[in-house]
Amino acid sequence: PSINHIQNLDELERVTKETASENAWAYYSTSADTTTTFQNNRSDWSKVSFRPRVLRDVAKVDTRQKVMGHDSALPIFAAPAARAKLGNPDGELCIVRGTSRSNVPYCTSNSASTTHSVMADCFKTEQKNGSKGALFWQLYVPVDKSKARDLVREAKELGFKALVITVDSAVIGKREADALLKAQVDNKLDVLPDMNNDAFVPRGHHTSTLDWNDLKWIREEWAATGPVVLKGIQTAEDALLAMEAGVDGIYLSNHGGRQLDHAPSSLKTLLEIRKFYPQVLERLEVYLDGGCRRGTDVVKALCLGATAVGFGRPFLYALTGYGTAGVERVVRILTDEIQTTMRLLGVTKLDQLNPNYVNIKLLENE
Ligand code: FNR
Repeated sequence: PSINHIQNLDELERVTKETASENAWAYYSTSADTTTTFQNNRSDWSKVSFRPRVLRDVAKVDTRQKVMGHDSALPIFAAPAARAKLGNPDGELCIVRGTSRSNVPYCTSNSASTTHSVMADCFKTEQKNGSKGALFWQLYVPVDKSKARDLVREAKELGFKALVITVDSAVIGKREADALLKAQVDNKLDVLPDMNNDAFVPRGHHTSTLDWNDLKWIREEWAATGPVVLKGIQTAEDALLAMEAGVDGIYLSNHGGRQLDHAPSSLKTLLEIRKFYPQVLERLEVYLDGGCRRGTDVVKALCLGATAVGFGRPFLYALTGYGTAGVERVVRILTDEIQTTMRLLGVTKLDQLNPNYVNIKLLENE
């Protein structure tokens, strides 16, 4: 269908499933084990309902938000997602262009299929032409930990504005749909990893030895270049430890259900933090992602204390079928949905959102 007929992000997903290569669809859509976490990511948003207020002048609404220190037209950003070239030969550049033209940030993946310097150049060209936005750098600490220093230096040199360290990937989760297709394509006799040759870190090339002490030297290397955010926090305890470790923000995520199956949705983690360590929400910026597909989801997250929400698969699906225009379409759809939600909820600015606008009893009692 014409891009102008795509009305929402679920529809975009359906279209992509029909039109994408088998390979791209398998890699983008796959999730871990029984896919329970993947499904809960989506369905938990529906368990929060709104408490709308009426008879307020909502003609003008302002959706602008500071995201990791940078102005954004919306309280959203493109989440780091590897291998955008599987879906489109222009790959990550579609997201660089589409997000900067829409004035929302893009957190690029450590495992991007386009080099960071090419992305940074493309971003500069966009800026010259009047685009805005911002680029953040998501870091996976490699097996040889010291190599992280080089990556952080590169991030600084290329002008990336925030460092997002992914901490939920000590090993790569068991993503069966993708593994099966790969085994078939590669003519592998066994779909499981070879435990004898690669026993300790099957399915992965990140370090499994990363711990809280490593944050210190990584942060020193990054210095005061911009905020440091930990991506993949899934419990209130770790949110508190992150605060004590002195990072600027936490990013609640279960990696789109691709890592530990039966891990909580980021919405549940947020409620847990509210309940046990509410001081974390006052001290740190909180970002989250996973299964957000609607403006209502974004507004719910903000009511409960999040600063902004990341979108992973929707941008990959968008670039697969529609390139840069698809990425811009995703932001346009979310702009419309967020504005409408705010008006119908009775608010005109994002800082007016608070827990009184939502009912969380269903989720709390689970
Ligand atoms: C990811 N994600 C991810 N995260 C990360 O920190 N580094 C990465 O390289 C990737 N790569 C990646 C590839 C693909 C295909 C997907 C779908 C996801 C996780 C991503 O940042 C984000 O947490 C989830 O995608 C959010 O869930 P939704 O929006 O896809 O439901």
